Amino acid sequence: MEAAKRARANAYSPYSKVKIGAAVLTSDGSIYSGTNIENASYGLACCAERTAIFKAVSDGKRNLVAIAIVGKSEDFTSPCGACRQVMVEFNPKMRVLRRGLDGFSEDGTASTLLPEHFNPPGLAKN
Ligand code: THU
Repeated sequence: MEAAKRARANAYSPYSKVKIGAAVLTSDGSIYSGTNIENASYGLACCAERTAIFKAVSDGKRNLVAIAIVGKSEDFTSPCGACRQVMVEFNPKMRVLRRGLDGFSEDGTASTLLPEHFNPPGLAKN
């Protein structure tokens, strides 16, 4: 959570002004943090959660145990659908710890956030 908070301070969000920080814990105890990164071409924004996950995976860490997400409030700590799908790809049981600076707090897992998600075995059956 502290790593997510630190990453939040680096948010590059001149367009939305929304600041999100995330940090992933891997099975070997490493922590990878990320923040949201926007672009003048608005559709290219990358969420904090995916930034953190992609940093971990790029470093060879695929066993993702938990992700902490810090935003201003409940609205801004609810991961978007794209990030939920990326979470379940690596671990449907990944713990998702959401905290708002206003005191909001909620814990769940990637699969509870995205029930009936598309998964790798689904590819083989279609
Ligand atoms: N954002 C995240 O970082 N994570 C989410 O799960 C939802 C949205 C960011 C993307 C964009 O920079 C800003 O919040 C407004 O959508």
